[in-house]
Amino acid sequence: MQNILVTGGCGFIGTNFIRFLLSDADFDGRIINVDKLTYAGNPQNLADIEDVFRGRYFFIMADICDPQTITDLFAKYKIDTICNFAAESHVDRSIVEPDAFIKTNIEGTFSLLEVARDHQDQLILFHHVSTDEVYGSLGSEGYFTEETPYKPNSPYSASKAASDHLVRAYHKTYGLPVTISNCSNNYGPYQFPEKLIPLMILNALEEKPLPVYGEGRNIRDWLYVSDHCKAVWKIMQDGKRGQTYNIGGRCEKANLDTVEIICDLLDEMQPRAHKRPRRDLIKFVKDRPGHDFRYAIDCSKLETELDWGPEETFESGLRKTIQWYLDHKEWVERVKSGEYLSWVKQHYEDI
Ligand code: NAD
Ligand code: DAU
Repeated sequence: MQNILVTGGCGFIGTNFIRFLLSDADFDGRIINVDKLTYAGNPQNLADIEDVFRGRYFFIMADICDPQTITDLFAKYKIDTICNFAAESHVDRSIVEPDAFIKTNIEGTFSLLEVARDHQDQLILFHHVSTDEVYGSLGSEGYFTEETPYKPNSPYSASKAASDHLVRAYHKTYGLPVTISNCSNNYGPYQFPEKLIPLMILNALEEKPLPVYGEGRNIRDWLYVSDHCKAVWKIMQDGKRGQTYNIGGRCEKANLDTVEIICDLLDEMQPRAHKRPRRDLIKFVKDRPGHDFRYAIDCSKLETELDWGPEETFESGLRKTIQWYLDHKEWVERVKSGEYLSWVKQHYEDI
């Protein structure tokens, strides 16, 4: 793998993956980052990388639904590998406005697969990054394995499920060299503050209410983002073609517990002037429609076949995450104001 097309590289996980691959992994090739720059994509996340890794890192503002541009990139950069992160990723948005989810997550993946099929002679791997939400919701017992039948409940998870099926079908039907990973909830640096953990950190720092859906009993299985990136890279290198790998942190937490832990860590790391605990900001609000109760990943296939395991605990990962948001006030301001979107307009729209 020398010329990797990473899609959605200006989003949360894509940014962390590109940083990991260029700075910390055993990889000496080139990365071609294609991102449409929706509200969730911020090219400033990688501005320093663009300088430091000139000649090895390239950014192209483009839509994965545009096959001509992707075809041109295959020729120009001799692409041999695709790692597909690009997606609409937020469940609540998918409930309000599902259209973009169908377009990017299903049609976009289909379009990429078609270009990949046209270049099968030069393609080493198409890795598709997906979610545990395709399996639906668990009760208080049991785990999702790679054999669990798909039963998605939100427009987001249904669109991701459709994309997974397409990727698998292209392997079975056309022999396309694919791998798929289904990961649990990520947290860490560069996450857009619409998702639970960064939203709670930033609201708490601004003395805003901390909205917990329902009674806060829903359970998520958390994984620090760099552990996800390392797993994806392991699967890309050593995973069996045509196979799916579950990725998870074995770190189940009820949402209310997560929010309380964040409050307590913030109280320790940046105490309020009046010293009262931040838990007093918690506010129970109306539940998410169709809210999946519990996700829990059995990742023993990845652990035993590929010798992967998470390096961060929930506490160490959360401390790093909180410290990152405390240290990156300018990033937070720009993201919250949408200012980076006007920067995008100036820098990239005419290209
Ligand atoms: P994100 O929303 O932060 O980033 C998505 C990126 O994709 C953005 O940069 C956006 O501009 C780009 N994008 C959107 N539509 C595009 C299009 N049509 N063409 C090109 N680029 C486009 O998402 P994330 O949290 O980084 O998630 C990345 C991937 O990982 C997604 O496929 C998601 O389903 C999957 N995933 C996420 C999590 C999680 O907890 N965040 C867990 C498991 C799997
Ligand atoms: O499981 C993997 C998935 O995790 C990814 O595929 C998705 O892209 C990612 O967004 C995430 O989905 P969730 O819906 O689990 O994440 P979110 O951060 O939106 O919510 C986490 C939990 O917290 C969920 O049970 C809903 C709850 N929640 C969320 C928000 C934003 C709240 O209680 N209050 C909130 O304000």
